Amino acid sequence: MKVSILLIAVLTTAQLLFAAEAAPELDPKYHDSSKCKSCHARIVKEWSGSYHAKSHFKNDEYLRASMKYYARKTRKPINAVKVECAACHNPRVAVTSTDVNYQIDVLMGLDKNSDVNKAVQDSALSEGVNCLVCHNVDAIKDNLPPEKRGVHRIKWNPVGIMSGPIEDAKSPYHKTQYRDFFGKDPKHLCFVCHANDRSSENFLFANTRKEYKDTKKQCADCHMSPKKEGFASNLPIDNGKPKKRMVREHGFVGAHTNWLWEDALGIKAKRKGESFIVTLSNENPHNIPTGFGARELILDVVYRSGSKVIETKSISLTQHYTDKRGKPTIPHLAKKATKDLSVPARGKKTLKVPMVNGAGQVTFELYYRLVNNEVRSLLKLKEPQWSEKKFITRTTVRL
Ligand code: HEC
Ligand code: HEC
Ligand code: HEC
Ligand code: HEC
Ligand code: HEC
Repeated sequence: MKVSILLIAVLTTAQLLFAAEAAPELDPKYHDSSKCKSCHARIVKEWSGSYHAKSHFKNDEYLRASMKYYARKTRKPINAVKVECAACHNPRVAVTSTDVNYQIDVLMGLDKNSDVNKAVQDSALSEGVNCLVCHNVDAIKDNLPPEKRGVHRIKWNPVGIMSGPIEDAKSPYHKTQYRDFFGKDPKHLCFVCHANDRSSENFLFANTRKEYKDTKKQCADCHMSPKKEGFASNLPIDNGKPKKRMVREHGFVGAHTNWLWEDALGIKAKRKGESFIVTLSNENPHNIPTGFGARELILDVVYRSGSKVIETKSISLTQHYTDKRGKPTIPHLAKKATKDLSVPARGKKTLKVPMVNGAGQVTFELYYRLVNNEVRSLLKLKEPQWSEKKFITRTTVRL
């Protein structure tokens, strides 16, 4: 008895210590990116095309389908799942965790007017990871355990203070404040959400922070742009002209953008006896794929005799996830996965591909797919982008 009381006391203290601080409610002046447009036109436009702007379940079929599937399999109310995923996908959510009492409310049909229901419907969330997420961070709580991410790792600014990379910024619309996690070391901000992620079974299926092999290169150099001359605001604050600043683009280009894939990996092939040794090389500072599970690299091998194709093979490099009953599942419910086949950061992966008799020329083509066949069919994803093959690189061996 004493032990369990003690345990409850310990758990409650732990919960208090680690409880996330919900973001303060936004007033209409700073409600969403449309309020920033008149003075930060370029940035708003660039960001609108990014997947940060689509990280709300309404705007991403894969996310929406994963949430529904997760709710069904864990028997959690869908709103509880929305709150859980919001930690990184919609960190401005007003409720940061749900408990058993909420599940009882749902069973009793008392959910409609609950704080949880109001929080997940809030229109301030519909833009996902927007300006008011990143630029309202006051501090990153780095003394917390590594699995505390997103909203659980953020200390928020009061509404109306924008943190950023410029030490002497002055705006007539809002207060500004310099922070090192924008200016000196912006990857620190990225790691708030892009670090590690665990399934309901505590299985680690994403680990970008641990993979990262670079101290100099910023995520922003590749996923925003190198720093270049421009202006932070188009407002004419410098003798009737916008003030010149060194800035970056806000496109956050990633796995959904085909051009970034071209030559993202290198490929070499060499004949060795009755096989080919194919080497994939990765110059990037994180594994490829990194981040979200169920991504796929595909190596298509075409054997030709003269101009005639005599055989083709397709080799899939992806992870397959199984749940606690050993059945195929999605990353967020995984108990186990097959071997990680990603190409390591600043490293290589070699594959052995068989020779085919009579072939005079063999072409190796490397592609990328956002969602592997297994997870696509479990979630019944319909949009063509999830199955589309994005070209990375190719090489040919003549025999
Ligand atoms: C995912 C986080 C993130 C989001 C979302 C985001 N920004 Fe930024 N922003 C940054 C980072 C990081 C920098 C600093 C880049 C650097 O200088 O290295 C930055 C820089 C800026 C700057 C300084 C000028 C520049 O380009 O460096 C302004 C102004 C700005 N952001 C406004 C906005 C606005 C407006 C939005 C919404 C449309 C927005 N940001 C969305 C991360 C973000
Ligand atoms: C009326 C014009 C105006 C509006 C509206 C506006 N800003 Fe600004 N903002 C500025 C000016 C001017 C600067 C300073 C630019 C400079 O010094 O080069 C600035 C600077 C910034 C910075 C850089 C701060 C730093 O210290 O690095 C951020 C971030 C920012 N704004 C975000 C936002 C966001 C988010 C919104 C929408 C909620 C917004 N701004 C709305 C005019 C505006
Ligand atoms: C508040 C959490 C959060 C922060 C901070 C954050 N991201 Fe993200 N990022 C996300 C989420 C969530 C997604 C997935 C959105 C989706 O696909 O629905 C994402 C997606 C991405 C993608 C993939 C885009 C694509 O098209 O596949 C890139 C690249 C990216 N972020 C880069 C960055 C960089 C660089 C930084 C730091 C400047 C950063 N992120 C900071 C949450 C965050
Ligand atoms: C040297 C350039 C480079 C740097 C630096 C870099 N990346 Fe990437 N990243 C890439 C390339 C290339 C890809 C693969 C192409 C793509 O996904 O569009 C990629 C893919 C990604 C993706 C998409 C993965 C997926 O399958 O959804 C995310 C998320 C991402 N990077 C986050 C980060 C973060 C966070 C950092 C910093 C800690 C970072 N990257 C630093 C080049 C870079
Ligand atoms: C720890 C932060 C975090 C939490 C919590 C989180 N995500 Fe994510 N999620 C991310 C990041 C970062 C990305 C982008 C990584 C990438 O592109 O590889 C992402 C990407 C995704 C994607 C891929 C979207 C696309 O367009 O390809 C899906 C699906 C997804 N998350 C589902 C979920 C679900 C379902 C939950 C809740 C059960 C959840 N996530 C909770 C950080 C998080």
